[in-house]
Amino acid sequence: MDCKIRPWRLEDASCLSEALNNKKIHDNLRDGLPFPYTVSDAQEYIMAMLNSDIDRTYAFAVTIDDKVVGSIGVFRKDNIHFRTAELGYYIAESYWGQGAGTSAVKQACRYIFDNTDIIRIYAEPFVDNIASCRILEKSGFVCEGVLRKNAVKNGKIIDMKMYSLIEEKD
Ligand SMILES: CC(C)(COP(=O)(O)OP(=O)(O)OC[C@H]1O[C@@H](n2cnc3c(N)ncnc32)[C@H](O)[C@@H]1OP(=O)(O)O)[C@@H](O)C(=O)NCCC(=O)NCCS
Repeated sequence: MDCKIRPWRLEDASCLSEALNNKKIHDNLRDGLPFPYTVSDAQEYIMAMLNSDIDRTYAFAVTIDDKVVGSIGVFRKDNIHFRTAELGYYIAESYWGQGAGTSAVKQACRYIFDNTDIIRIYAEPFVDNIASCRILEKSGFVCEGVLRKNAVKNGKIIDMKMYSLIEEKD
């Protein structure tokens, strides 16, 4: 499997909408994304990413053999956290279990540490998101603890985990 990450292109919109039109994916993300997720929603997202501040937003398409199968983004935080960034990602269900998520996380983190001054990348999966926790562990992230009752998703109060990956630059 040839999994890569690359900048978004407007023509990726239909593959992106296909990938994200899945309740199982939305159930593991923050609220606010449209569902169903149309091609026009995907175009809007890609345009926003292409026009975003290049020092704050690092958004990539995840591809297998150059077909978009997912999305990954690293988003710099503000104020005293300006050298910290949050990681988010998803992979289209038909590609689950083939290592694409792990490969994308490793590539995105390497890119960030090699090309920016960010020293901490974190992710906050829901505690029951075993696949995401496993990806983070396989990518070298350390679980720093459980954020108890940290979210309400689909009407249910849930715990999240705090995972981080540190670059020993300074
Ligand atoms: C989480 C997600 C990105 C995983 O993508 P993927 O490409 O299938 O991930 P990988 O194939 O690289 O690895 C998944 C790992 O989790 C394991 N896994 C998956 N489901 C599991 C389960 N229910 N119990 C135990 N392990 C599980 C797999 O076996 C694999 O580990 P292994 O390589 O040691 O066997 C994908 O399921 C997804 O997009 N989910 C919805 C969105 C989401 O959760 N995003 C992350 C928010 S923090």
